[in-house]
Amino acid sequence: MGEFEPNIVAFVCKWCTYTAADLAGTSRIQYPPNVKIIRLMCSGSVDPIFVVKALSQGADGVLIGGCHPGDCHYVSGNYKARRRILILKTILQNVGFEADRVWIRWISASEGKYFATVITEMVEQLKKMGPSPLKTAWDI
Ligand code: FES
Repeated sequence: MGEFEPNIVAFVCKWCTYTAADLAGTSRIQYPPNVKIIRLMCSGSVDPIFVVKALSQGADGVLIGGCHPGDCHYVSGNYKARRRILILKTILQNVGFEADRVWIRWISASEGKYFATVITEMVEQLKKMGPSPLKTAWDI
């Protein structure tokens, strides 16, 4: 059996983080292929249920990516996302789940290299943490 390869689901805003991922690709910046990107209009569109559903259906980690504070194209979507994800992480922690599996990062359209760095760091951390306990609990 090979080394554990974590599955990451990334919910990203189309204006910043998705464009950064695209820039990483067009700039040929290498990053691990462990991430499946889901493009949304804004990080404020990320319902915490999306995160829970991803974790319950096989993701080892979830990334929420959006525009930097003050740069959201819908004014305050990223602030709302930050609050919601903080609350979700608190709830997850209180039920015994490792909240460090859920990351929120602000990555602008010009930060392709930073996008690659975040994915690389997340993969490294998840490899240390091992498979999500939800996976083994439900035998996914
Ligand atoms: Fe990017 Fe709102 S438009 S976080």
